[in-house]
Amino acid sequence: MHHLPFTFEIALPAGVPTEYDNHITRSLSSMRGQYADQQAYDAQLAQEDVLLYEVYEICCPESSGELLNGISIVHPGAVGDEYFMTKGHFHAVLETAEVYYCLAGEGYMVMETPEGESSVAELRPGKVLYVPPRWAHRSVNTGAAADLITFFVYPGHAGHDYGSIEKQGFRKLVVARDNRPVIVDNPRWTPPEER
Ligand code: PA5
Ligand code: NI
Repeated sequence: MHHLPFTFEIALPAGVPTEYDNHITRSLSSMRGQYADQQAYDAQLAQEDVLLYEVYEICCPESSGELLNGISIVHPGAVGDEYFMTKGHFHAVLETAEVYYCLAGEGYMVMETPEGESSVAELRPGKVLYVPPRWAHRSVNTGAAADLITFFVYPGHAGHDYGSIEKQGFRKLVVARDNRPVIVDNPRWTPPEER
């Protein structure tokens, strides 16, 4: 962690920052229950616990004046017809926003509020996405072979609430139909009145 101004670089195509504090890796086994096709999930996991995504965090004190930033890299692939994606989360401090800047690849950010309002934004190089306070967010890589690489920044005290999404799911899924991404309703989503 730094107390003085600092710079770093993000060299493409790899997207790994020249300095970072944490390197988080998430593989298929950490996503149990999150993919719609449970059979496809189990079959794929039996073959290999494949690496789905990686996060490089540049950390800061967990206070509201600080900005935690870093790089998220979602690898290409699918479980059944559902593209590789992040777990997705609300911020533990719900009233905190996040900015994403897409550096490489293609995909979507799937978002929703605790009340069930949903929004899906396209990500491609050069796109900036503002995720307002209260919106859960999950990045999905719809590219055939390339990583989806985004830079993110959010308040240092925001934290993560993964449990809500693990229980209720996202309202929308991004799936492949005829090799093209389409956004569909999640049949297993739990609406607010049933939680
Ligand atoms: O801050 C964010 O929202 C991102 O850095 C995500 O944490 C990252 O994309 C990984 O997703 P998740 O935290 O949902 O596993
Ligand atoms: Ni976040």
